[in-house]
Amino acid sequence: MRLEDKVALISGGASGIGRAEAVLFAREGAAVVVADLQEEQGIAVVDEITEAGGRAGFVRLDVRDASRWTAAVEFTEARFGLLTILCNNAGTNHRAGWDEQTPEMWQNVMDVNLTGTYLGIRAAVPSMRQAGGGSIINIASSAALKQGGGGPAYPTSKTAILGLSRNAALAHAKDNIRVNALCPGHVDTPFIRGSQPHSENDWSTDIANPDNYERRMARQPLAIGRLQSGEDIAYAALYLASDESSTVTGATIAIDGGTTLL
Ligand SMILES: NC(=O)c1ccc[n+]([C@@H]2O[C@H](COP(=O)([O-])OP(=O)(O)OC[C@H]3O[C@@H](n4cnc5c(N)ncnc54)[C@H](O)[C@@H]3O)[C@@H](O)[C@H]2O)c1
Repeated sequence: MRLEDKVALISGGASGIGRAEAVLFAREGAAVVVADLQEEQGIAVVDEITEAGGRAGFVRLDVRDASRWTAAVEFTEARFGLLTILCNNAGTNHRAGWDEQTPEMWQNVMDVNLTGTYLGIRAAVPSMRQAGGGSIINIASSAALKQGGGGPAYPTSKTAILGLSRNAALAHAKDNIRVNALCPGHVDTPFIRGSQPHSENDWSTDIANPDNYERRMARQPLAIGRLQSGEDIAYAALYLASDESSTVTGATIAIDGGTTLL
């Protein structure tokens, strides 16, 4: 019960890394609010948690919308009390290189990945301040540490998350609010397997294509025999969410099977 008495709000909690965090955090004693655009999938995660004896609720959230963030924090406080953990997972990508990426695609990636993270921090801080502290975990990417991720928007947005995290970490340190960033490598989630409205893939980018799976495996030197899982990232988030990391703030942690060593 490493998160006993904690209250977590998890954007992008309906799928992939966010879903793994929600399930793991609830198992470790936290009350969890799954916040996502995908309602049906989000409710399914909540059902899974409550059926296992955990505490969870779902709120519909578009991370681009400041008023929806306010509503999500209010929902969390009303159901479970003051917020002490925020995970900013919601993300999007257009797999289009410089020649194909439009200004609209660029703006959408910035709005979801970067502005969405900023708005989440902004909405969570007053509740955490009242609680006497908190932990904010921003999901960046190995694309923030080395070049990757296709066209210009995605790696730029993820690199900016590192700067935003350090800025927020210093600004809110006086309130005992910690802000850290995780950089996952190649994680086997719907983001890169199949095709989603927020992360479109065709056969040339989908890891269901064995050639693509092997191409990504070749970029992950650690011999684990598989790409990373959502749980691999969630365990790092668990450490940052728990009091075990009570003096860790402003850190960037690569959780990437060695991807950024290449
Ligand atoms: N999968 C990878 O290989 C990988 C690698 C590095 C970083 N990441 C990052 O990890 C994060 C989580 O991705 P994942 O792999 O779990 O993908 P995923 O597709 O499984 O989950 C992403 C979730 O974000 C939600 N979302 C998207 N736009 C939203 C919006 N505007 N408002 C609210 N929710 C929204 C989606 O509905 C989805 O549930 C993303 O920020 C992604 O960039 C993923």
